[in-house]
Amino acid sequence: MKISVLGAATTKFGELWSRSPRDLVMEAVNEALDDSKEISLQDIEAVYVGNMLSGTLGGQDHLGAFFAEELGLHVPAMKVEGACASGGLAIHAGVTAVSSGIYENVLVVGIEKMTDFKPEEVAEALMGAGSDPERDAGASFPSLYALMARVHMEKYGTTEEDMAAVAVKNHYHASLNSHAQFTFPVTMEKVMESPVVSSPLKLLDCSPISDGAAAVILSSKIKKTGRNIFIVGSAVATDSLGLAERDDLTTIYAAKEAARKAYKMSGVGPNEIDVAEVHDCFTIAEIIAMEDLGFFGKGEAARAVRLGQTRLGGRPVINTSGGLKACGHPVGATGVKQVVEIYRQLKGIAGKKQVKGAKLGLTHNVGGSGATAVVNILKG
Ligand code: COA
Repeated sequence: MKISVLGAATTKFGELWSRSPRDLVMEAVNEALDDSKEISLQDIEAVYVGNMLSGTLGGQDHLGAFFAEELGLHVPAMKVEGACASGGLAIHAGVTAVSSGIYENVLVVGIEKMTDFKPEEVAEALMGAGSDPERDAGASFPSLYALMARVHMEKYGTTEEDMAAVAVKNHYHASLNSHAQFTFPVTMEKVMESPVVSSPLKLLDCSPISDGAAAVILSSKIKKTGRNIFIVGSAVATDSLGLAERDDLTTIYAAKEAARKAYKMSGVGPNEIDVAEVHDCFTIAEIIAMEDLGFFGKGEAARAVRLGQTRLGGRPVINTSGGLKACGHPVGATGVKQVVEIYRQLKGIAGKKQVKGAKLGLTHNVGGSGATAVVNILKG
């Protein structure tokens, strides 16, 4: 499989109170079209919109047509929803549509507007991705990932400092990214002293509530000018909605399975990946992701973070955008933004956060506490 990424762009992520979902999507789409240099809106044959909460929070349940109208298009357009993996899932839908040969060029958009609502409304809406018993028990995503962290700590000796090191690295990367929500670096002390959200997770172990949009143009055509970037593997897997139904809380089975399929499809192995954007909704999630993706053995990822192996200058470099932790996590936009970041890395246009000589990259996007996982592999 070889699907071209013809153009890609993201808005700044953050608390964007003066911007509407329309504004944000139009900005990302126009920049992606400009970036492609050889495609116009009229060449787009289908639109896939990654979004989770437009109905629950925004009262808009007809998102495909909503954005097609805004774009002035009459093409097939649909919302793709998979909780926090909605963006990655929309990319997968675009890839499969182009691979089928039905469409030559499709537009994938990721959008979420979360900060206009009260924190308790957002937390409740996000729990729409959990199981009924979890909701009935009053669980939140910080509390579910805190449970996973506790088991990882008990089984592998992972410490709160190891998790804090993920936040320090990702805030450092975000300090080099003008589109990130938090562009300030943080110290270990600052993370360790931040208020507890759900023990052992503290404020600075958590991704924030964010607004933002991202857009990617996928095509079966090869770019005539400039460096071609291809998606060479794209896979999705699912698992139980609730944690209680899982055998092991230190791994996300769906992510392992999606990775296995994407590696097989692309013929690329974990040791060949130069740069990856992984779903660090909480710092423990990045440690688990690196183990599930096969970058490190089970129980060994925390040590790699501590030694700085996954920071710029190491290999594989993880979350050059700042990840969900510091770049921000507008849930439906995240999976699309991850592809934008890897595309920019492989093109060599990632600026101060450029990974030198990056040729192979990966995105890992997770919905809920691991019920949906999407892995995409890109080649420069
Ligand atoms: N990292 C760093 N700083 C953060 C932050 C984060 N994750 N979240 C908030 N802040 C900062 C804010 O910028 C603000 O700073 P200021 O006072 O200088 O302006 C301060 O902390 C308080 O912000 P506030 O919005 O009041 O925080 P909150 O207590 O309402 O929410 C969380 C904090 C962690 C509970 C919230 O961000 C959250 O629920 N995150 C998880 C989201 C989630 O579950 N996503 C789905 C994943 S599966």
